[in-house]
Amino acid sequence: MKGDFNMLEITVCVGSSCHLKGAYDVIKRFQRLIPEYGLKDKVELKAGFCLGKCTEAVTVKVGNEYFTSLTPDEVENVLKAVKKKVLERSNIK
Ligand code: FES
Repeated sequence: MKGDFNMLEITVCVGSSCHLKGAYDVIKRFQRLIPEYGLKDKVELKAGFCLGKCTEAVTVKVGNEYFTSLTPDEVENVLKAVKKKVLERSNIK
């Protein structure tokens, strides 16, 4: 197993459909907002290849959950859900 077990992975698809629909703008928004949400040491942001949901681009996978048809403006909602997930995890320990 690699990486920190407690880190939540956020994978933004940069396959061709997602790329065309603005995956890089979504990544940039994540990069800007992750520190603002205090999640810098809690999540690992990655770019990944096709996640198999090309008709619903841009696709983002958070842990085992998929977010589809994502625009940069919706990144904030994803991070609110991520923050909730991270807090739940830390309460379990
Ligand atoms: S290209 Fe992004 S889900 Fe296929």
